[in-house]
This record gives sequence, structure tokens and C-alpha cells, in this order.
Amino acid sequence: ALGQLVLGIETSCDETSASVVAGGRTILSNVISSQVPIFQRFGGVVPEIASRKHIENVMGVIDQALGEAGIGLDDIHGVGVTYGPGLVGALLVGVAAAKTLAFAKELPLLGVNHLEGHIFANFLAHKDLTPPFVALVVSGGHTSLVHVKDYNQFQLLGQTRDDAAGEAFDKVARVMGLPYPGGPEIDRLAKDGDPTAVAFPRALHGQNNFEFSFSGLKSAVLNYLNQVKQKGETVSLPDVAASFQAAVIDILTEKTLQAVQVTGASTVCLAGGVAANSRLRAELTVRCQERAIGFYYPPPVLCTDNAAMIACRAHYKQQAGLCSNFHLNAIPGLRL
Ligand code: KG4
Ligand code: ZN
Repeated sequence: ALGQLVLGIETSCDETSASVVAGGRTILSNVISSQVPIFQRFGGVVPEIASRKHIENVMGVIDQALGEAGIGLDDIHGVGVTYGPGLVGALLVGVAAAKTLAFAKELPLLGVNHLEGHIFANFLAHKDLTPPFVALVVSGGHTSLVHVKDYNQFQLLGQTRDDAAGEAFDKVARVMGLPYPGGPEIDRLAKDGDPTAVAFPRALHGQNNFEFSFSGLKSAVLNYLNQVKQKGETVSLPDVAASFQAAVIDILTEKTLQAVQVTGASTVCLAGGVAANSRLRAELTVRCQERAIGFYYPPPVLCTDNAAMIACRAHYKQQAGLCSNFHLNAIPGLRL
């Protein structure tokens, strides 16, 4: 009665993950082997090292996911895998593993767009959620507003022109001397800061479009830190963190609510690593409540990269007959 069992595989960046999801909505296992500790000393992901680590980890992680689900490969009905966007060498490891399993066991192969996967994490976290809705996808590599019209019908409303929101968090954290990844660090530090202490710019604010730009904000923070240092004054890192975070969240919130208005949607979903941000959640909770708009976000473990969201997306593709063939290849610049 659990429904179809889909094995999901995710290797697009720095987590090797495998998961078994039943009926598209129930997580039986979600194993995540993170390379974050390795990349902390480099201050960011080193693609070549990431690929090698994925090769070392992927089969063990898949075995563990099947084991924790209490099943064997013969019980699986389909294999879903992220084929883009992401680091090409990292993606190739997952794609090769998925193709091998699908070929050996004569199973449907389902190539999954990583961004769609992030959005679908909401279906795992909220069993009552159904399309249509507006999704704000905010991760280390992406900042996009998407109109999710149905399970297999998406319209990209707009995205960032330069840095992604998570990338801005990571870069600003780096110049503040905080460890990688910087998003959670800034989130924590900002709790003790004054968000109105420094008036950082809000790019493309109030414009009637759904594009974002965060590179100017990143430079503004850097300039501010340099100026304060030159004056020989001490910087309040909590104030800088809170003020920077407020600028990012103002823009994300405003454009998301504009998207709700334009699409006529009555539900908003957050997705991607930055969806774990406590201020972003709190702000959108209030703003959506005021407008009687439904607001959903996944728990932190389903916000950052994981294979359960990939298995979920794969399930709905399989239901619609949207299977891949064995020519499936990694597409680093894959779009929605
Ligand atoms: O989705 P994800 O795991 O990987 C990508 O697909 O990019 O997102 C990682 C990003 C990083 O930039 C990280 O700093 C950010 O998500 N992040 C956060 C928080 N937790 C993770 N950003 C702000 N606040 C957080 N609490
Ligand atoms: Zn991601």
C-alpha cells in the first residue's frame, strides 16, 4: 500500500545522497554523505575533489539507503537521478550509477532537474500540498521564482542576473571571516544584530519584474567593512550580518508577493538551501498570513541537497511517463 518505490540519487555538488521514496510522498530512507567538512578548509567546493569523493561514496550510500528502507534493488520500481544543473564531473557520477542500476535491473530511468527537485521537497514535507503555487527557489547556485502550474508544468517567472542568494551569503560570510558555508553562520549571527544598523542597497527593488541581483550588495558589504576598518573603528559583525540579511530578505519577499499577485496563486513554497533561513521563513510567514496566502517550506534537511527530493520528482515524472533513455547525460547548465 506504500505505492511505487523510487530510488533517488543526488551528486550535483558536495553531497552524495541516495533515498527511497514510496508513492512520491513517503520517505523510507534519505542518506546524505556531506563533503562540507572537506571543503571548509578551502572556503568552498573544489569540483575535482567533489567528483572523486562522489565516486568513493556513491555505491555505499545507495546500499545504505536500500538497507535503511528495508528493501533490496529488486523491490525498486524506478531510478531517479539529478542530471543538472550542477558540477559536470559530480553530476556524471550519479548519472553513471543510476544508468548502471537501471540497465542491470531493467528499471525506468528518470533524469531529474535539480531545481525541480528542490521544489518537490515541499511535497514530501506537506502531504496535503498540491499545485498550483509560486515557488521561490533560493540555493547556492540559484535564485528563481517559478509558477508551478501542475506536477509537470513549470513557468520560470524570473531569476538572478548575477550571484545567487546563497552565493551572496557565502561570499559575504567569507569577507566577514566566517566559516563555509556562510548562510547558517550569518543566520545565527544576525539574531544578535540590528537589521537597521547599516542601510545596504536593495537592487531592482520595486521594479515590476522578477529578476534579482545580489553582486552589488556583496560589494556594498565589502566596501562598508573596508571603510570602517580604515577609520580605525570596530565592526559589529552581528549588525552587518543582520543588515545584509535584511536586504536579501526584503527583495526576496517583495518579489515573491508580486509573483503571487501576477499569477493569482494562493500558495507560496520555499525551496533550496537558503529556505532554511530563519528570518526568511519568519518574514514570509507573517506577510503571507496577512494576505491569507498558504505558505509552505521544508524542514532544513530537505532544504539543502538531498536525494529524497530527487526521488519525489522522479516519481511524478514516472507517473506521467516522462522517462529518460540511456543517452541521458549530465547537463551542468540545465534550465527549468
Ligand atoms: O540547495 P543547497 O544545499 O545547494 C545548492 O543547490 O546550491 O544550498 C546551499 C546554500 C549555501 O549557499 C548555504 O550558505 C545556504 O544554502 N544556506 C543558508 C542557510 N542554510 C544554508 N543561507 C541562509 N541561511 C541559512 N540558514
Ligand atoms: Zn541544491
